[in-house]
Order: sequence, then structure tokens, then C-alpha cells
Amino acid sequence: MGKTHSDIGLIGLAVMGQNLALNIADHGFQISVYNRTTEKTDKFVAENPNTPGGLVGTKTLEEFAASLARPRKAIILVQAGRPTDAVIDGLAAVFEPGDIIIDGGNALWTDTIRREKALKDKGLLFIGSGVSGGEEGARFGPSLMPGGDKAAFKQLEPIWKAVAAKVDRKTGKPLLGAKPGRPVKGGVPCTTYIGENGAGHYVKMVHNGIEYGDMQMICEAYDLMQGLLGLKPAEMGEIFSAWNRGALDSFLIEITADILKQKDPVTKKPFVDVVLDTAGQKGTGKWTSVNALDMGVAAPTIAESVFSRCLSAIKEERVAASRVLKGPKVKKVSPAKKKALIQAIHDALYCSKICSYAQGFQLMRAAQVEYNWKLNFGQIAQIWRGGCIIRAAFLQKITEAFAKDAKLANLLLDPYFNKTIQQAQANWRKVVSLAAENGIPVPTFASALAYYDGYRAARLPANLLQAQRDYFGAHTYERVDQKRGKFFHIDWPEPSRPQLEA
Ligand code: 6PG
Repeated sequence: MGKTHSDIGLIGLAVMGQNLALNIADHGFQISVYNRTTEKTDKFVAENPNTPGGLVGTKTLEEFAASLARPRKAIILVQAGRPTDAVIDGLAAVFEPGDIIIDGGNALWTDTIRREKALKDKGLLFIGSGVSGGEEGARFGPSLMPGGDKAAFKQLEPIWKAVAAKVDRKTGKPLLGAKPGRPVKGGVPCTTYIGENGAGHYVKMVHNGIEYGDMQMICEAYDLMQGLLGLKPAEMGEIFSAWNRGALDSFLIEITADILKQKDPVTKKPFVDVVLDTAGQKGTGKWTSVNALDMGVAAPTIAESVFSRCLSAIKEERVAASRVLKGPKVKKVSPAKKKALIQAIHDALYCSKICSYAQGFQLMRAAQVEYNWKLNFGQIAQIWRGGCIIRAAFLQKITEAFAKDAKLANLLLDPYFNKTIQQAQANWRKVVSLAAENGIPVPTFASALAYYDGYRAARLPANLLQAQRDYFGAHTYERVDQKRGKFFHIDWPEPSRPQLEA
């Protein structure tokens, strides 16, 4: 016999919604579900009759609201943007003051800020929660990044903590073993209250920007191995598997190894070789990069990963250009140097990754000032250790870095990361120059290196740039021999202009 009222509800029974609903029910919570098309709801409930908590199918939003215990809690998992607004409006009409709406989609954080404010005026509470980990994560333990009303989150917290991925307290290693009806016990849940209004969705967006960077870096490593060493996918798969046992241990490296070993079911060729080289995107990496530009924070590696997808998408244009634009012929590296080059590519990837994460954390640092949030970077790194797409052993090092110094100005300055780059940078530089010499594009490796060299430069050529601005626009300049904040201008000669013929 089920409870008279459900503990929570969920709207939107696409793949993510179904998986999260089952995960919640597996943890003993009764959950009401609603979908625009009732057939989907009926089918879903009929197919899952024996969950520990129980699923309650509802046909109208009124019925959905009436089925929930107070204060009502409803998770929305529909497409970001207008569909989310439509569902919120529908819920607002049937909910009462004090009820809680949770948006688990990939919403733009400024939309979340707007929605929270509008709902507050109606007495409703709103939580924008990042949900990462794809279908598998939603089903067996995602990483959850909730932001919004803190008191409202307290109501949601027991459910969010129960369903989130768990990691070992000391090592940060994901605790595996979740099976339907047999959730992981113990460990640290990969969720924590992130901050006010749009903070959760902002942090999820940065997660995705970092995800874009990680994915592109892996692709560059693959491109270099096949270009410079002529390695075949299966062999590269073994290399990625080996990397996954070391410092690069992460979900994205693990799936890359699997993908490279996969055969195409139709042609039996390596699967990657039959996939067209054009990448799609839904926009979260772009949002991260646009926001970096808006705030004036350098996040070039993340931006390059977005531009790489853009360039990949113009396949026909590239094919045409490849016949016209010439570059150097790739010089294959001799087999004797193979092992050393693979290690160098590994190091280039690791150093670039450190820079990309440093940029992501710089963004969050600037955003918390802009939006008046108090973000806990150590906790953010901690909840990314399991469940999410960027989960990696390396995040334990970031957690430790912020535990040692919560106000760390840049991840690069942490002693562990500093030492790692000291040891690996010769290889990183070698790989970037080898790529340039051979005409192999490595936009994230190269931009990360430029970021590193730019960040550690006590003097950049911006002195000349500022002089140029003063020359043509009287934009003024600061002097090396005066205090910061005092601006000067000199009278420049008239720029030479083309003379009119008499
Ligand atoms: C996650 C992912 C997910 C994202 C996909 C696709 O954390 O689970 O970030 O939210 O939607 O990875 O993103 P793109 O289509 O933009 O590559």
C-alpha cells in the first residue's frame, strides 16, 4: 500500500526524467510523475510496478498537485527555455505558497534568476539544480548542483543526497555498485547547496564548458597519435586505457578507450573511422565562453573547444579548402621515439587540462562577485568527483587545493599543480611545437600553453597596445613609474594621411 501523498513529483518523462524518477523511487521515496502525453506516463508506470518507493502516474497538473505531500516538491526535466517556462506557469497555477519547484534542466542561469524572482512574488520557492551524468548518472547517481532558496533546499536535501552519486570520503573515488533497488550506502554524496538563485545552474554551465574542453583535448591527443605515429584506433584505445589507470583517470578517458576499441556493427571497421567528423552542440559551452567575454575573464581554452566544434561543423567548406590551402607534410615520428612521444602527449593533455580547469574556477570566482554568491570551490570540486561527465581522480587534487587555501587566486598557484606543470611542461611545449611544425591543429593544447605563459608573465606586451590606444584614441595610459590608477596622455604627431592630388 502506497502513501496517501507522494514525497516528490517529476514532470517530463524523457530519458533523463524516467531515469531520475526511478532512481528516486529506488531510494524509497514515493514519486508522482506527469508527462504532456498521458500514454507515456501510463507506459512508464506500468513497466515499473515494483520500485521500493512507488511511482504514481497522474493525468493532469491538478491531479499531480493533489497527489503531493506539502510543501509540494516538483522536479521539472523538460527542454530548457520556453518549454520550461510553460511548465512553470502550469505548476504555478496549481501550486500554493510555500510549494517548491525544482528545475533540473540545463537552464541558462539568468533565466533561473528571473524565474526565482517571479515565483517568489507568488510565494512559490524555486531551485535551479544542475544535473550531470547523462542517463546512467540520472539512474544510478548523478552529480547535483542545486541553487536557489536555501530553506527550500533543506526540504529537498534528503532526496538529493540519497539519489546523488557517492564517493569515498578520503580518496574521492566513486563508490560503484548501485543496482536497481540496491543503492550505494555510505560515502560522500555528490551534491551540496551551491548558492542563491542561479548559482547552481551557473556552476553546471561551467561544468559543461570544462566538459567541452576535456573532450576537445582528448580529440587532439588522438589526432596527434594517429597523425605523428600512424597508430590505429584499437592501439590508441589501449593507450587511453593505460592513461585511465594514472593521473588522467576519468570518465571521459575511460569512454574514449571504449570508443576507440569499438567496431562498427555494419562494416566491422573501427567505429571512429565511420563517424563523420562534425560535432554538434547544444549551447552550454558557448554560454560559458560568452559569459567569460562578458565578465572579462580569460577562458581561452574553453572558448577554443567551442570554436573547434564550429570549425568541424563546416565539413564541406573544409573539404574544399583542403584542396587549395597547403601546409607542411606530416613527418612521421620514428618508432624508436614512440614511447617518449606518447608520454609527451599525455603530459600535454594533463597540463592543458589543469589550465582549462583553472579558467573554469576563475570564471566562478568572478561570477560570485558579479552575482553576490558565496561559492565554495572545494565543495564544487568535491561534488564533481563522482556522477558527472567530468568526474576524474584529478578533482580530488582540486578539492585538496581549495581545502588548503579556500581563497587560492588561481589553481595554477597550488603547489601540486605548480609542481606537476614544472615537471611536464617541456613535453607540453614539445608537443605544441611538433603539432605546429606538422600542421596538426591543437587549439586547446596551444591556447592552454599561451594561457599558462601569459598568466605567469610579469610583463606582457600590453604596454605597446596601450600606447597604440593612446595614440589613435587618446585612451590614456598608466606609467611604470607611477601608482596604479593614475592616467596620462601625451600629444602624438598627427597620423600621416593620404595626400589628395592637387
Ligand atoms: C551532463 C552533460 C549534459 C549535456 C551533454 C550534451 O553533465 O550530463 O553536460 O548536460 O547536455 O553533454 O552537451 P552538448 O550537446 O552541448 O555537447
